[in-house]
Amino acid sequence: MSYKIAIDGPSSSGKSTLAKLLAKELGYVYIDTGAMYRAIGLYLLENGINTNDEMQVVSVLDKIDVTLDYDKENNLHVYLNGKDISNKIRTQEVGEAASVCSQYLKVREKLVSLQRKLAEEKSCCMDGRDIASNVLPNANLKLYITASDECRAKRRFLEEKEKGIDTTIEKVLEELKARDYRDMHRAHNPLIKVRDAVEIDTTDKSPDEVVDLVLERFF
Ligand code: DC
Repeated sequence: MSYKIAIDGPSSSGKSTLAKLLAKELGYVYIDTGAMYRAIGLYLLENGINTNDEMQVVSVLDKIDVTLDYDKENNLHVYLNGKDISNKIRTQEVGEAASVCSQYLKVREKLVSLQRKLAEEKSCCMDGRDIASNVLPNANLKLYITASDECRAKRRFLEEKEKGIDTTIEKVLEELKARDYRDMHRAHNPLIKVRDAVEIDTTDKSPDEVVDLVLERFF
């Protein structure tokens, strides 16, 4: 029988790091749903589509094919119309475009059906915003990952600094808050903590500490 772990939480809370490490420890498949919304965001940016114009976005959805695949080391790769775009989607601009277009029902329907298909008959760790509430409501384990605003902003700031991006903690914090607000207040499948989710605060915890905590408590 397959075992499903649904991991939700706001940006930079540590949910993807946890999902990736847990999948590795348990030998499960890791499914990064944010990467799929980012792939659509990248397509829109590269093709000059106004992300705020729902009609325009919906009109190009048939031209967008998003797939996930794994290499020999089991690292996840995201493909947009057959091209590996994994290295292009981890930017603030693409994250913002993903957050904006993820508000549209047609965008969500397209990706949610794909996400459910990817999880079929496999034990998996899937992370995102609506996994426990919508994509896998019958998941065996539902985790809601949080961290303080300051901690999330610091993590994101350090990531950007490493990439050579010139920014400030204040700017990053402002962007994070705007994204959280959009992701938590949209009409369709906003980020929520479901009743049966277990909340884990990753502030001041290393990735390994969080994984150990989950493994000790639930496995
Ligand atoms: O987790 P992330 O930062 O890669 O996600 C990028 C955006 O995609 C996020 O701001 C909102 C959207 N998203 C979503 O609406 N539902 C998901 N399950 C995953 C991501």
